[in-house]
Order: sequence, then C-alpha cells, then structure tokens
Amino acid sequence: MKSLTTIILVTLFYCFKCEEETLKLSIYYETLCPDSIRFFRNQLNSTYEKIGSSIEVDFIPYGFATQYKADGKWTFHCQHGTRECSGNKYHACELAQENGEEKDVQFLDCSMRSRDPTSSKQLQICAENVGVNFTSINECFKNGQGDELLIKYGERTNAVSPKISYIPTIIINDVFSQEVQNNAEFDLLNTVCKHLSKKPPACL
Ligand SMILES: *[C@@H]1O[C@H](CO)[C@@H](O)[C@H](O)[C@H]1NC(C)=O
Ligand SMILES: *[C@@H]1O[C@H](CO)[C@@H](O)[C@H](O)[C@H]1NC(C)=O
Repeated sequence: MKSLTTIILVTLFYCFKCEEETLKLSIYYETLCPDSIRFFRNQLNSTYEKIGSSIEVDFIPYGFATQYKADGKWTFHCQHGTRECSGNKYHACELAQENGEEKDVQFLDCSMRSRDPTSSKQLQICAENVGVNFTSINECFKNGQGDELLIKYGERTNAVSPKISYIPTIIINDVFSQEVQNNAEFDLLNTVCKHLSKKPPACL
C-alpha cells in the first residue's frame, strides 16, 4: 500500500512538471548586425508576447567578435566595429543583473528597435522605460565585469558545434539544427510551436 502511494505521488509529481514544458531558445547575436536587428524586431518580441511562458530565452551577445589579452587588458574586435563591442557589453551587463527574463527581453528589444542599439544615451532611455537600473549596468560596463562577461559569451559562442557561420544563430534545447536555423529566423513562432509537445493556445 505504501509503495502504491509512492507510485501515485511520483506520477503526480512528473505530471505537474510536464505541464510546465519550457523550451530553451538560445540566440547568438551581435548588436549592430542587420540580421540580428531584424530578428529582434520582427520575430522575438511578438513570439515572446504570445508564448513567452513556454520559452526560456538564452541571449549570447557576442557574434563574430574576437578577443585577446595584452598587458593584462582584454581587447575585443567586433564585426561592425568598436561601437558594436560596446553594445554587446551593455547587453551582457543588463543580462547579468537578474532583472528577470521579461525585463531582459523588453530591454534588449528596446535597444535593438532604437536608432542606435549601442548608444549609452539610448540604452539609458530603454532602462528607464523598462525599469532596470542603468547606473548599475554602467558600472558593470566600466569596471571590468562587462569584459569578463563578454569573454564567457565568446567562449560559449566558439564552443558551438558545428562552428557558427551565421549570425543570428538560433538553437533550440542546446542542439543545433539547420532546419531550425532556416525556419526560426523568419518564422520563430511556428518553429518554436513545432517543438512544443503541449501547444499553448497561440500555437494553434
Ligand atoms: C514588444 O514591443 C512592443 C512595442 O515596441 C512593446 O510595447 C512591448 O513591451 C514589447 N514586448 C516585449 C516582450 O518586449
Ligand atoms: C542602482 O544601482 C546603483 C549601483 O549599483 C545603486 O547604488 C542604486 O541604489 C541602485 N538604484 C536602485 C533604484 O535600485
């Protein structure tokens, strides 16, 4: 009898867990890349508004940057120049604050929707609109923490297999698929929906 109770409890536990299916959506991007900007503007925001509770978004703001250490100081080179490195670092610093995923999405979306996603003035406005602490983002940007964050994002970007050849790269549940990559860039909602076994109403 006792073991039957255990079986029932375990079954119930797993059923509650499986109710809350979430899919991990990793987005490897860079702040001045036109394809990344288009993806944020046209896909991410609207998909997140519809099925955000079924997704865990994992942002990796690095792209095709490179990094090296000289005289104890880190230097980064970015595909679209120094400003892009700044933008990536601001994004990394906001993500490190644990403001919650919804605010992260709103902040990054506001940045990528603005005239210059990397401008500190613009990012301060975004921070105020969304309600995240820009003073603390700026401290992280200036005090070296932002560099450490970018280094980690660089290591993650370089560790993707097969090697990333296009930005944005979009990966579902940690396994690269060319089919997901091709479809997600222009139809994120349906691509994510296809991967959810329990479809939220917005998928149907
Ligand atoms: C999506 O964009 C709209 C319009 O810019 C904005 O009001 C909304 O907060 C955004 N939603 C998210 C989840 O970022
Ligand atoms: C914002 O962050 C700064 C620096 O970390 C801190 O001193 C300040 O109290 C914070 N402001 C709010 C409103 O939390």
